[in-house]
Amino acid sequence: MVRRSLIVGCGTCLPRRSVSNDELARRVDTSDEWITQRTGIRSRYLAEPDETTATLALGAAQAALAHAGIGADRLDLIVLATTTPDHTFPATAVKVQAALGMTGGAAFDVQAVCSGFIYGLAVADNFLRAGQARTALVIGAETFSRLLDWEDRTTCVLFGDGAGAVVLEASEGVGDAGDRGILSTHLRSDGRQYELLWVDGGPSTTRTTGHVRMNGREVFRHAVTRLSEIAEEALAANGLTAADVTWLVPHQANLRIIEATTRKLALPDGRAILSVDRHGNTSAASIPLALGEAVAQGRIRRGDLLLLEAMGGGFTWGAAAVRW
Ligand code: ACO
Repeated sequence: MVRRSLIVGCGTCLPRRSVSNDELARRVDTSDEWITQRTGIRSRYLAEPDETTATLALGAAQAALAHAGIGADRLDLIVLATTTPDHTFPATAVKVQAALGMTGGAAFDVQAVCSGFIYGLAVADNFLRAGQARTALVIGAETFSRLLDWEDRTTCVLFGDGAGAVVLEASEGVGDAGDRGILSTHLRSDGRQYELLWVDGGPSTTRTTGHVRMNGREVFRHAVTRLSEIAEEALAANGLTAADVTWLVPHQANLRIIEATTRKLALPDGRAILSVDRHGNTSAASIPLALGEAVAQGRIRRGDLLLLEAMGGGFTWGAAAVRW
């Protein structure tokens, strides 16, 4: 009997304020035309001072639990992926744990920047497969705008804030559930070129939070190669091909990266779930935000094969194959 993690609920939470490219262009030397053509981003949500990673994460968590129809008392694990914790410590996950009224189990953060949700999903999936937890909440939540240098137009136009969450439940593979759930997860990292995409601060170096610094062209090149490699690996590990994929749920960094990756994978047009136009790059939140929206719209049906993939600072990258 195969023990698998089923995704039994999804939820999202966005800040109140959406900011269009034209609004940004009043504050930064840029234009709607440049941003749209280069990235496909038309607007992004930016957190107000009272909106933090924990408040957004809590909103997504509550929505995911409601969608799953279960109470927080059933949870025995929270894994929260973020690059922008409310505090250096404790983990933002424990703030969410307390706000949900959950006093048992364990809650912790993982940090893999834009790949964070895939990393969190892999960690939780392995806890469930190993029998160390039965019901887990995996959250990707960011207030990435707090890391941006608003004088640097090459980075500040790209990112946004938000959160998404999924509830996982262990299944013993009874009935058709044996074919459903997270089929496999695949994680990679390579720290040799971390300065191609990093934050130039931190408690142990500058004692400041720092700002995002990026070599956009190099990141683009690495992203397309790494993402298609890891996506192929996830398919091959399950004896599947691109033709089997119902939906690609990619990290929403940039429409051109998504299009180049789908071309490399030879996926037919229209198979990628897209939200980058309205969310920008929300780092660890981007995949669960895109997934949660697509589920709420009824686009994802039981039996669909989903391929999730992401790449981020580090570099880190990863993929997951999921039978819905
Ligand atoms: N508005 C207007 N002009 C701009 C802006 C802006 N916001 N930013 C840069 N420019 C100008 C540059 O100054 C440059 O001008 P110049 O030719 O006079 O010197 C020109 O636009 C071209 O700049 P490039 O950096 O060469 O532009 P490029 O075509 O590479 O596009 C971009 C930049 C969009 C950042 C691209 O490299 C990219 O998408 N990279 C991937 C980065 C990414 O997605 N990172 C997210 C994190 S990683 C991940 O999630 C996968």
